[in-house]
Order: sequence, then C-alpha cells, then structure tokens
Amino acid sequence: MSETEHEAASGAGPVSGAGAGPGAGPVSGPVSGAGPAPGPGTAAAPGPGTAAASGPGAARRHVGVGMVGYAFMGAAHSQGWRTVGHVFDLPEDPRLAAVCGRDGAAVRADAERLGWAAAETDWRALVARDDVGLVDICTPGDSHAEIAIAALEAGKHVLCEKPLANTVEEAEAMAAAAERARARGQVAMVGFNYRRVPALALARRLVAEGRLGALRHARFTYLQDWLVDPGAPLTWRLRKDRAGSGALGDLGAHIVDLAQYLTGEAVAGVSALTETFVRERPLAGGWGAGAPGGLGAAGGAGAGAGGAGAGAGGAGAGAGGGGAGTGTSSGSRTRGAVGQVTVDDAAVFTARFPSGALATFEATRFAAGRKNALRLELNGSDGSLAFDLERLNELSFHDHTAPAASAGFRRILVTEPDHPYVDAWWPPGHGLGYEHSFVHQARDLLHAVATGTTPEPSFADGLAVQRVLAAVEESAAKNSVYTPVVA
Ligand SMILES: NC(=O)c1ccc[n+]([C@@H]2O[C@H](COP(=O)([O-])OP(=O)(O)OC[C@H]3O[C@@H](n4cnc5c(N)ncnc54)[C@H](O)[C@@H]3O)[C@@H](O)[C@H]2O)c1
Repeated sequence: MSETEHEAASGAGPVSGAGAGPGAGPVSGPVSGAGPAPGPGTAAAPGPGTAAASGPGAARRHVGVGMVGYAFMGAAHSQGWRTVGHVFDLPEDPRLAAVCGRDGAAVRADAERLGWAAAETDWRALVARDDVGLVDICTPGDSHAEIAIAALEAGKHVLCEKPLANTVEEAEAMAAAAERARARGQVAMVGFNYRRVPALALARRLVAEGRLGALRHARFTYLQDWLVDPGAPLTWRLRKDRAGSGALGDLGAHIVDLAQYLTGEAVAGVSALTETFVRERPLAGGWGAGAPGGLGAAGGAGAGAGGAGAGAGGAGAGAGGGGAGTGTSSGSRTRGAVGQVTVDDAAVFTARFPSGALATFEATRFAAGRKNALRLELNGSDGSLAFDLERLNELSFHDHTAPAASAGFRRILVTEPDHPYVDAWWPPGHGLGYEHSFVHQARDLLHAVATGTTPEPSFADGLAVQRVLAAVEESAAKNSVYTPVVA
C-alpha cells in the first residue's frame, strides 16, 4: 500500500493516540501535522508538533524521519521505518524524508535503494530540514552526542544507536538535553533493539510478574568471531577515538542494557578484565585470506535489509587514519601499512545487583565459530529463564514451584498472538528474525512521539549503561578491583 493510499484508507475518524499524553497538545512544529508534509518555513515553532487529526476526512499524521549514516544500522533502521506502517496500526506514520552520508554520489544512490526521498551530505543540513521531525542517528559513537544534542535543540525527536556515547560525560550531556527537550514534548530513545525481540520482551514480563521469585544469578555472554583473523582491517570499531571502546561498548553495552531491563535492577558494581589480543592491524582492506572487513562487510546491511543490497564498505568506511602506519612482512603474506588497535578485543566481568543477585558478563569478537551469540540465563528462587539469540523465537522457562517429577526447562515458542509484538505478524509458528526488532523499535518510538511519553530505553537508560561500561574500564585498569557504578 502506498503512503497516499494509506492516508486515504485511514481518513475517517480520529487517529488513535492523537492528543493523548503530555506534549500532545495543539502545538505545531517540525513534525508534520494533519495533512500534507509541512513546507519550508513551517518548522520554526519548538516542539514536535502533534496536532490531533480528527473528524471525517482527516488525513493520517506523519512524522518526517531524517537518518544519519546508511551502512549496517542505516539499512536495518531503513527497513524498520519502511515496514512499520504496513504491519502495525500506528498513531503516526513515518515518512522517510532524507538520509545523510558524507559521499554525495554514494548517499544519493543508497537513498534510492533504501527508500529515502532525499539525500544530504552534512548532518547539520539534515537536522535543519523542515520536513524532518525525527533524527535517527546510525553513525559511529564519536558523532552521537553532537548530532543528538543539536537535533534535540532544534526541536526534533531523536533515535540514537547504542552505545549512547563514547564517554560518560557525553552521555550525561545527551541525557540532560533529552530532559530539557522532554519539557517541550520531544522524545529521545537509544537503539537497544534486542529489548524488542518478542522472547526477550516476554522474559521481562515473566520477571516482572514474579515468576522467577528472588533473583540469584544473571549470566550473559555476547560472542562474535570477526576479529579472529589478525589480518582483519583496522576499522573505526577498533579505534578508541571513534568507537569509545571495543567489544565492551559494542557487545557489552547490549548485554548490560538487557541485564538492567530484564531484572529491573541497576548494576551496582563490577570486577573486570579486558584484553586486546591483536594490537596492530592493516589500515585498509586486510591482508588475510578472506579477511572480513567487519560487520558491514560481513553482509549485515544487505542481509538485514530485505534485498536492500550489500553493505560492504560500511564498517570499513572509517578504516583510514588509524594511526601511524608501518610496513611489515610475515611468512608468505606481505603486509602493508598497519595501525594500532586502541580498544579492547574482549571484556569479562562479574557484577552485583542491589538485591544481592550476582551476574557474569562476557563480550568478545574472538570466539571462533560464534557469529552473533547473545545468550543469557536468569536463576531465581522460583524459576529460571534462558535465551539464545541464534534461536530467537524461543524462550526456555523452568518453573521451580512445579512438582519436581514434572518440572524442568520447557521451550516456549514465542509466536503466539498473546506474545509481545507478535499479534501484528504471522500465524503461530511462523517465526520472526533479527530485522523485526527494528520494526518494533520504530513502532514503540512512534507511539511515544504521538503520546509525548518518554520511550524506553531512554537517554537516561543509555547513560546508566555508559556508567557501567566506565566502571568496567576502571576496574580492568586496576586489575579487577571491585568498582562501584557511580549513579
Ligand atoms: N543495535 C545494534 O544491534 C547495532 C549493531 C551494529 C552497530 N550498532 C551501532 O550503530 C552505529 C553505527 O554502526 P554501523 O555498524 O551501522 O556502522 P557502519 O560503519 O556500518 O556505518 C556507519 C555509517 O555512518 C556514516 N558516517 C560516519 N560518520 C559520519 C558523519 N560524520 N556524518 C554522516 N555520516 C557519517 C558512514 O558513512 C556510514 O554510513 C554505532 O553506534 C554502532 O555501535 C548497533
């Protein structure tokens, strides 16, 4: 169904959710209100503008989305924005207004491929566009704070990829900007998309219902293997100035967020070890046989975008400038210029929750054979839960209050209409995948935009994760000394 058809089909009667909640009053602003997209000059008023459309013939409300970065996450988010209005009944439909990259020809080509109406080469121009009411940040961490704060101050809603920032200081500034913007009816969310996997949302529901009793253990691993080859290139993900940290911020951020989301508790303190196994890597291209170029080149963008094309060059885009290069040779392979890896390759840490529960975490890109293995288990006095992202339609649950003779872990196939998000999709047993988490993320954010409620995970939640990451780095620097998380 085209956007025009969508508008016509929904023209009768009030739009659900319109006008409800704080910030949803009759203000006008950069977000398109009822009727056609706002033209130039209609973006001056602060606030996201969610004027209610009601009465016969009223058009659907739209929010114009502007996305910065269009490689791996850009492709995944594009798919979410393209799909969400065709699956969920939304109070506000997204309009893919403009995408931003730094290479004009490349971004124009990808704008068309990914479904964006226009292309920009400067994120400031994207933020300033009248037809953009929501800025979606899919760039490396070194630009998150600057773009997010500018967008919030320009009156836009913001979705920012994880980790929220590269430092606690940046994350604090972002959370403060989001709090100021909240008073104007704007919303800001962090892209911890795994919260939107139905099985994990169900896990949260079961914990909140008390089905596990008193929590004793929480166990999290997030394992990948794309750095096992020492010839894999020095992409931006291996540079502290661009990524903030390595496996810790990339993978560890996800499992710390999940730990806090699932348990409902904030990590109180940590004892950590980190290691960088390969300290020098080629600056571009890699020299190993079949050396991967990182996640984007590993097919993430193309595979996740439903035919949106190959993502090669995405993760590798920032490989240049990785420090002073040297030429070396080893065995039969001639090595070109190399640079220093300035982040961790792996991080392992133990943690305490305020309730007294103990947690363990492991994040690495050196687990040969593990591609995207996010696994977790929670053990409580009344039961246990276990999840594996490689079987993401399933949740294992053990009810310890059941008679011992028949108790034991059982597999819940999370494809029933009563399960979170699932009623909008397919009949029971017809599973979902990785990309659906981005559709659900877009759905939840659009509901928050329409109602003016703070979406979860908020920038405050992103800051809380950043503080745990900082405590991990501090503890690791002190050879695992137990380090409280500064609240
Ligand atoms: N939620 C998840 O599961 C998940 C998975 C992977 C990455 N991420 C996060 O998403 C973010 C992006 O990662 P990625 O894997 O998409 O990286 P990527 O290298 O594939 O893409 C980065 C994009 O940002 C663009 N870019 C960089 N600097 C820019 C600037 N100043 N202005 C405009 N465009 C700029 C690049 O050209 C590229 O299009 C990171 O914060 C990363 O941690 C999240």
